[in-house]
Amino acid sequence: MVSEISYGNWITHGSQVEEDAAKECVKAALDEGITTFDTADVYAGTRAEEVLGRALKGVRRESLEIFTKVYWPTGSGPNDRGLSRKHITESIHGSLRRLQTDYVDLYQAHRFDVETPLEETLKTFDDLVRQGKVLYVGVSEWNAEQIAAALKIADEMGFDRLVSNQPQYSMLWRVIESEVVPLCEKEGLSQIVWSPIAQGVLTGKYLPGRPPPAGSRATDPTGGNFISRMLTDEVLTRVQELKPIAADLGLTMAQLAVAWVLQNPNVASAIVGATRPEQVRDNVKAAGVKLDAEVLKKIDDALGPIVERDPAKTVSPAKRP
Ligand SMILES: NC(=O)c1ccc[n+]([C@@H]2O[C@H](COP(=O)([O-])OP(=O)(O)OC[C@H]3O[C@@H](n4cnc5c(N)ncnc54)[C@H](OP(=O)(O)O)[C@@H]3O)[C@@H](O)[C@H]2O)c1
Repeated sequence: MVSEISYGNWITHGSQVEEDAAKECVKAALDEGITTFDTADVYAGTRAEEVLGRALKGVRRESLEIFTKVYWPTGSGPNDRGLSRKHITESIHGSLRRLQTDYVDLYQAHRFDVETPLEETLKTFDDLVRQGKVLYVGVSEWNAEQIAAALKIADEMGFDRLVSNQPQYSMLWRVIESEVVPLCEKEGLSQIVWSPIAQGVLTGKYLPGRPPPAGSRATDPTGGNFISRMLTDEVLTRVQELKPIAADLGLTMAQLAVAWVLQNPNVASAIVGATRPEQVRDNVKAAGVKLDAEVLKKIDDALGPIVERDPAKTVSPAKRP
């Protein structure tokens, strides 16, 4: 079981926000009933896991689900990356130390590693489960073919099966709907989705033709790179058209965005990020909101051609980064 809304600390902890603000956001998340926390070894060059570990210190471990990931480089060497037995084993030990915990609830392959035999990765994951360092295993941004290949190997070899995929998913980015979701529904995996608010874009706070608001992700040196592709006049103009739809429902734009991803029955949890505790308190109110077919149609009409649906957009690097 996971909370319908999870809290993630990419870009924020150890980077965009100071430690006090990070701790306040985690406290707000806990106060609001969030029990699921997502991070990765690579976030802020491993500092994000440390911040989360400190922020969760003293909280009853059994009442939390802590997720982390492995794949992207955590050092400069050829073995400081990817999904080899060596790197996975070293990385989980680093993650457990930084998170100050004996085990993580969900350990996720942060991309598909074309340079490591899939059997090696899955065997290592299975070993970690048996060692009790990891309770469940999942993937992130794998395509349907890659997930199917992993399930086949796990079934043939008796390895622990993948339980989840962590894809990007929002009103603007729906690339999982045609292939990944049908496969996962059939095979019993859930989606735990990232950037449901499109990194802040779906709050409507970025206005076409205007500079980004002070302190927002678009003004952060790291975050700015990631959000920039969505900051076009066409996207921002269309997003403004969601405002009356949200207002009619008595929701904020952020709540509408989070509620939208949760309408997909294969989505177990939406991972939201936050730089301020008020944002967490705003976003959690999306839990339990139902959007009817007419509202979903109005959203589609408002966004029109800016919605991305091509399943081929789920891509892992052609070689290890
Ligand atoms: N697996 C992967 O490859 C992958 C990739 C990316 C993310 N993730 C996971 O998904 C998590 C969430 O990603 P994300 O941070 O991009 O998600 P998001 O929820 O779409 O965006 C979060 C950002 O939007 C702004 N925001 C959020 N709520 C707001 C509100 N109510 N009002 C105004 N602004 C608001 C904040 O940024 P500002 O205040 O700075 O504007 C916040 O940091 C990450 O922490 C990570 O755990 C995974």
